[in-house]
Amino acid sequence: MSEKKQQVSRRQFLNYSLTGVGGFMAASMLAPMVRFAIDPVLQATGGGDMHAVVDVSEITTEPQRFDWTIEQVDAWYTSNVTKSAWVYKDENDEIVALSPTCKHLGCAVNWSGNPDYPDQFFCPCHDGRYYKNGLNVPNTPPNAALDLFEFEVKDGTLYLGNVVENTVQEGGA
Ligand code: FES
Repeated sequence: MSEKKQQVSRRQFLNYSLTGVGGFMAASMLAPMVRFAIDPVLQATGGGDMHAVVDVSEITTEPQRFDWTIEQVDAWYTSNVTKSAWVYKDENDEIVALSPTCKHLGCAVNWSGNPDYPDQFFCPCHDGRYYKNGLNVPNTPPNAALDLFEFEVKDGTLYLGNVVENTVQEGGA
């Protein structure tokens, strides 16, 4: 049995070498570009962050609107977004922080916004109404309760986080 000796010609060696070096150089140039292109997409979002909103001593039994600003990162674009909540203490001295976004079509609701219903939240877009605890008043356009903000109190300051579903079943304070 004869063994065939494999020989690499000078031309083949040159081809292999140039292909290898060229590939390495191309990868070196492309890697930073690809990373730059997709990096913002891979960044974790700050969705679960809690934001300082108000000193707890300012919270009363009357719903008050408090605003705060967050930095929103949308891929490559960073902007400041103002958020709002209606905050009060209920009859058990528990803090309630309601989203102002109407569950009908998303307008902003106001406490005491309708003089005929001074103890309710009112949505001016289609006369939607909610009880103080956020439950939607039957036979008005909204078909769900105002969402609640997750919250925590630290060193006398109220921090608000994500919005969660409000599962309240009966209208009340
Ligand atoms: S958007 Fe609020 S009632 Fe329609």
